[in-house]
Amino acid sequence: MAAVYSDLAGKVVLVTGGAAGIGAAIVRHFAQQKSNVMFFDIKADEGQRLARELSDQGLAAHFQRVDLTDIAALRAGVVEARKAHGAINILINNAAHDERHNTEEMTPEYWDDRVAVNLKHQFFASQAVLPDMKAARAGAIINFGSVSWIAGQGGMAAYTASKSGVIGLTRSLARDYGPYNIRVNAIAPGWIMTERQLEKWMTPAGEIELQQRQCLKRRLVPDEVAKFTVFLASDEASACTAQHYIVDGGWV
Ligand SMILES: NC(=O)c1ccc[n+]([C@@H]2O[C@H](COP(=O)([O-])OP(=O)(O)OC[C@H]3O[C@@H](n4cnc5c(N)ncnc54)[C@H](O)[C@@H]3O)[C@@H](O)[C@H]2O)c1
Repeated sequence: MAAVYSDLAGKVVLVTGGAAGIGAAIVRHFAQQKSNVMFFDIKADEGQRLARELSDQGLAAHFQRVDLTDIAALRAGVVEARKAHGAINILINNAAHDERHNTEEMTPEYWDDRVAVNLKHQFFASQAVLPDMKAARAGAIINFGSVSWIAGQGGMAAYTASKSGVIGLTRSLARDYGPYNIRVNAIAPGWIMTERQLEKWMTPAGEIELQQRQCLKRRLVPDEVAKFTVFLASDEASACTAQHYIVDGGWV
């Protein structure tokens, strides 16, 4: 760990989608900052393994299996988390699912399913933790977007629509809750080499495109997004709210 943000020690942090990918790196980084981290995911085995790995190191990380597309379960998960670990200070709305889809085959049901996994839970997780932050007159919410819609990526219209919606959500919440000293920001990652990206989407043609389009001529890794996330959640970023930060090595 390079930077230490002393204000993050002891903070209660909730990370969604924390069992894999960028979310798992974020969980690790907050745990290393000595925050009390809770994370939700549908991947029970991976979640339990990560919580065990961190608690074996004497760090505080607690996993709950929650399907975030089930808003009642999400709300119950937040109530349980609060009961176990106290009022939530920081929320990282990270979970998503970047499955590609064909526009002509889209059904109303699949559209709703894509919005549920890529946007809707960010609003309801925020709604669930805002009373804690209002009472504390402090808090930070970070919503995960994507550069895909800025870059004009095709083959995933419901995903890109959801991810562009993250910006509107972020700016509205920042306006409404700024008077309570609650900061709300969004991070838009570029192409970050998670296990899923490497397994599903990285191809020789993709590697060539990366080398051409990114300013930095190398693969970006989840740690690089996590490092920025802990900074943005910390008091070092105390004047930053209602913004959308791109972490993409200069792709867009
Ligand atoms: N990796 C990239 O290249 C990239 C690019 C742009 C944006 N992003 C964004 O960054 C964030 C993290 O992406 P990632 O690449 O680490 O994704 P990932 O697919 O590797 O991990 C996402 C995590 O969310 C969990 N999740 C998915 N659906 C869930 C549900 N219904 N309930 C609970 N948990 C659920 C998954 O199980 C997984 O652990 C996402 O918001 C994504 O849109 C990533």
